[in-house]
Formats: sequence, structure tokens, C-alpha cells
Amino acid sequence: MANTQEIVSVLTESRVFPPPEDFSRRAHIRSMQDYQRLWDEAAKDPDKYWGDRAREELYWKEPFQTVLDWKPPHARWFVEGKTNLAYNCLDRHLPKLKDKPAILFEGEPGDRRAITYGELSQQVNRLANGLKSLGVKKGDRVGIYLPMVPEAAVAMLACARLGAVHSVVFGGFSAEALQDRMKDAGAKVLLTADGGWRKGAVVPLMKNVEAALPNAPSIEKVIVLTRTGDGKLPEGPKFVAWDALVKGQSDTCEPEWVESEHPLFILYTSGSTGKPKGVLHTTAGYAVNASLTTRWVFDLRDDDVYWCTADVGWVTGHTYVVYGPLMNGVTTIIYEGAPTQPGPDRFWDIIERYKATILYTAPTAIRAFMRLGDGPVKQHDLSSLRLLGSVGEPINPEAWMWYRDVIGGGRCPIVDTWWQTETGGIMVSPLPGATPTKPGSATFPLPGIHAEILDRDGKRVPKGQGGLLFVTKPWPSMLRTVYGDPERYVNTYFSELPGMYFTGDGARTDADGYVWLMGRVDDVVNVAGHRLGTAEVESALVAHPKVSEAAVVGRPDDLKGTALVAFVTLKQGNAPSEALKKELAVHVGKEIGAIARPDEIRFAEGLPKTRSGKIMRRLLRDVAAGKQSSQDTTTLEDLNVLAALRQTDE
Ligand code: PRX
Repeated sequence: MANTQEIVSVLTESRVFPPPEDFSRRAHIRSMQDYQRLWDEAAKDPDKYWGDRAREELYWKEPFQTVLDWKPPHARWFVEGKTNLAYNCLDRHLPKLKDKPAILFEGEPGDRRAITYGELSQQVNRLANGLKSLGVKKGDRVGIYLPMVPEAAVAMLACARLGAVHSVVFGGFSAEALQDRMKDAGAKVLLTADGGWRKGAVVPLMKNVEAALPNAPSIEKVIVLTRTGDGKLPEGPKFVAWDALVKGQSDTCEPEWVESEHPLFILYTSGSTGKPKGVLHTTAGYAVNASLTTRWVFDLRDDDVYWCTADVGWVTGHTYVVYGPLMNGVTTIIYEGAPTQPGPDRFWDIIERYKATILYTAPTAIRAFMRLGDGPVKQHDLSSLRLLGSVGEPINPEAWMWYRDVIGGGRCPIVDTWWQTETGGIMVSPLPGATPTKPGSATFPLPGIHAEILDRDGKRVPKGQGGLLFVTKPWPSMLRTVYGDPERYVNTYFSELPGMYFTGDGARTDADGYVWLMGRVDDVVNVAGHRLGTAEVESALVAHPKVSEAAVVGRPDDLKGTALVAFVTLKQGNAPSEALKKELAVHVGKEIGAIARPDEIRFAEGLPKTRSGKIMRRLLRDVAAGKQSSQDTTTLEDLNVLAALRQTDE
């Protein structure tokens, strides 16, 4: 149960950036009046609004009659309809887009491939036929554990074509994480590769699979793509070479027309405690919102070269690398490797060479680039870019400004998009041709999305005051359950206020009604009776010119209830010192107020992060409290970081 005391909001940001006029003129949604009109229409008659959107976004083999059947907390959308998501991503664009690149792929070692819509369709159909030959059918679960290569998208689409339920496991996860997920999902087949390239080295996927298999007994077959090695398979009847499986298969495969509510994928995400939750998404509602939000939020045009840098192992990779862009028939870039391999300018080199028009990435990456300075960016012509996006955590205003000025050349609108694995698609975000943006605010909920900031009694909190972020009405791409654990679905998401989805995030609105995310509620600390969003203190620290990254957590304190401990990484060329600690504490005091001044500042070479770049605050809480951690570290990017932090302790 979240602590729902009032959250004191302390950050103020007064800069406003209206959308550039020439951008608005050509945009899908061109003004706040248009946004408001859509919002009002959706609120007044949600069935009509979502029904219209569903008919516009998808090809329906059989039409739906019922837009929504809502028996809180269980929703069924577009009930009688039948469709197929692979058909919507591929077939319906052919023959018109047959020769248009669907995927521009760049491997970390520098290998490149352009795959047209026609070719992608062939590859998907061949693999679908191959999977069929192994007995995969509608409803079967299929694991995908691949590097960021086009075959990851091919695998997802082949599953969707057959009505099989994919569960992608991020290629950076360990054998243990893989086996737990495969076991929980009861996966019948696993698609993997011998390895992938990351930071100049091979990620040993096959080795992990071999270690996981004895504990994942449901897996009957393992399909192995050759990416880094010589094509030799491990011994045993389970292993099938990808190439051999698809060779000779037909280029056509009749799509399985599935019911709207047929499960599309399970994606595991960590909760604040316990084992990862298998978030289950179904077909039509997810697809409608994926397609719509990609077009509106990124204001897609036919000639866009769109790059979302997320891995398909995360929900952002599902919705905004694969399904959203392909449903819209645009060209999407897939890059396999690390952002700074072989040099600090790899991203900018890719943007220049492919003339990318849209970049969608995470604040943690933006801050890492900031730390490297403007030099690597300035070596490249980024004038093709017209829109920038941010996702995954609150973006601090300093990083937002750097993103805008240095990457976007001051001309590209920024969409700071708030959403979650559970929401399936973007929920709160600027519409770039309409919404005046403020650095650090995700601005307003999209039409049809009732994101509201409430107190524990379900009352709306006044403007300026923090509260809990709920989504008070169902939306098409909401998760349907936690796979295999329906009670956990109810307890985690619908037990704070009946019938309302609890996001776990704190937020506030400012005087103009803009939404500001304040971090997870369990990252909110109570200092001397005041609740503070740790994200806000972090933002203040990062605003200091010498600070690269900061994470703030609470530590039990006899006097104040909770003391604030800040872990700080410095920008290159700055040395830790006692004087600097004082300077930073004073700086936070000045930026926010004495209440937010950290009680302790610790300098660190690195912060413990998940592989998707989220700082693992729960680990830092243990470090701050001087405790050995009993927490799950399977998602930690680099265990050494934790060891180093502990050493500074002694
Ligand atoms: O705390 C919010 C933060 O990331 C959480 C969702 O994480 P995940 O399910 O891994 O999905 C990440 C990609 C959608 C949210 O509960 N978050 C995500 N986007 C933002 C954000 N916090 C602030 N601003 C955002 N734009």
C-alpha cells in the first residue's frame, strides 16, 4: 500500500517553448484548440471516440460491435472484432510500400542492411511457416532472447501472425532471469542467437540459454540465429538453426485472425518487491493505441526516418520500435550496440548517415552524452532531425535544454512521454505541433486518457500540490492481467482506489495544469514531516555544472524520520572534495529550499542501473542504510558498481 501523505512539490520551472510555427502548420494536431476539442469529444462519448479510432487505425477481418465491456478492473475492448497485427504491420502496406525500407539496420561492428516492407513480409511469413512446422499454434507462448537485430522484429511479427504469444527477454539479462521468465510463461519454443555485439565484445546468449534450459522444462525447441559465430549448434535434439528452419519455407502464410482480446505478448517488469510481473497485453486495444500514439506524438510523415533507441526487450521497443512505426508504414532504424562504440559520436554518426528525422531516447542516455561534452555532437550534421523524444524517467530541465539546444539545434520540439509497460503506449505527452512545452514536464494527457492526480481518498489535489497519479477510466492498451497471477493484477493496480488504475507514480500539476512527474511513490521520502519527490532533488543536483548524475534516497534517521542521501557522479575533470560536498548541499538548498538539502553526499564513479538505464534506488537505499542487500540484483547492469559503492562506505 503506498503511503499517500501529501507530497510537497518544490521544483519550479518557468521556461515555455511554443511549437515552431512551421512545425504546427504541417502537424497532425496543430493547436491546443484542436487538442482540447479531441479531448472533450473523447470524454463526452468515449465509445464513439475509441470506436472511431479503432476503425481508422486497424484493418478488421470481422468488425467489432461492442467498443468496451468494463467490469472493473477487467476490460474487454472491441469485443466481437477479429484482426491480426502482423497483417496490419505488413500486408496492408503492400504492394504500395513493397520497396520502401521498413528497417534500416546497423550492427555494432558496422554491418548494414536495409530491409524493405516486401522483404520483411517474406521473412516474417517464412519464419511463421517454420514455427508452424515445429507445432507452434495460436495461444502457445514463444520466448525471444535476441540481440537488437532485425530478426527480433521478424520473430515478434511471426508470432503475431500465428496468434502465438511472444515473451521477449532483454538480451542483456542473465541465464537465471531468462529461465524464470520462460518457466513462468510456459514457453514452448525459444528464438535466440549465438551472441550479439555490445561494447566491442560478444554477449554470450547461447551460453546463457544452455544454462537456463535445464530449469525451463517447457521449452521443446531452441531456434538459433547465427550472428557472431561460425554457425555451429550445441548438441542435442532441441537445437534448430534459424537458417535451416526458414530455408525452403513458403513466402506466404495465412494470418491467424484472432479475437480482439487474444493475448499478444507477455512482458516481464519488476515491481517494487518480489518476482517480476508478467504484464499481459492483448491484440486489438494495444494495436490501436500503439498506432495512434506513434503517429500523433511523433507527428509521423511518410518520409520520416524514425529512430527509437530502445531495445526490443523493453516495452518501448515493442510499441515504438516495432509495432507503432510499422503499422504506420514508416522507416525505422535498429541499431545493435552501445551508444559510444567505437567512439563517443556513434549515435550522431548514425543520425547523419541515415538522415534520421526523429530521435526517441532516454534521459539517462542524454545525460551520459552531456557528460561527454558537445564535441562529439559537433562533428556531425544533425540538421535532418525535426523532433526529439524522451522516455523512461523524469528528464531534468538541464538535460532537456541540452537536448533541445545541442542535439535539436534549438529548432526541434521535444516530446517528454510518460507511460509504463502496463499502459502499453504513451499516456501523457506533448503533441509536438500543438503543445507549448516546459523543460521537465510531460505536459498533458492524450485525448481519451484520464490521468488524474488524486489523494488517498480519491480527491483531486489542488494545483501545485503533489499526489498520486491514477488513470481513472479504462483505455484500450491497458494491461489485462499479470500472467498467471490475477490477484496480483488486482492488488498492485486496483486496490488503492476501486476501479481506478494506480500507476505507482507521484505527480503534480502546476498553475497552468501541466503534469510534472515526481518519480515512483516508493522513491518519495518523508523528511521531517514533508514528503519530497527524490527526482526533484536529483534534478537540482544535476543542474549544478559539475554534476553528471545523481540519485537520492532516504535513510532512516532518528531525528528527522528520514535523512536524504545523495549519490553523485561528477562530470569529467572534477575531483571529489569535502568543499564540493558543501557547495552541492548549498546549491540544492538554493535551488529548492533547505528542506531538500541532502544530509549526506557520496561521490560515486557510477550508479547501479538496470540495463534499461533506470537507477536502482532500492539498492542505493540499502547502501545508504549500511545494510547488506537482500534485494534481487538480476537486472543490475554492472555488479561492480555496487561493490564500489559499498567500499566507499568502509
Ligand atoms: O516512473 C515512471 C517512469 O518509468 C516508469 C515506467 O517504467 P517502465 O514500465 O519500465 O516503462 C518505461 C518506458 C515507458 C513510470 O512509472 N517514467 C516513464 N516515462 C517517464 C517516467 N517518469 C517521468 N517522465 C517520463 N516521461
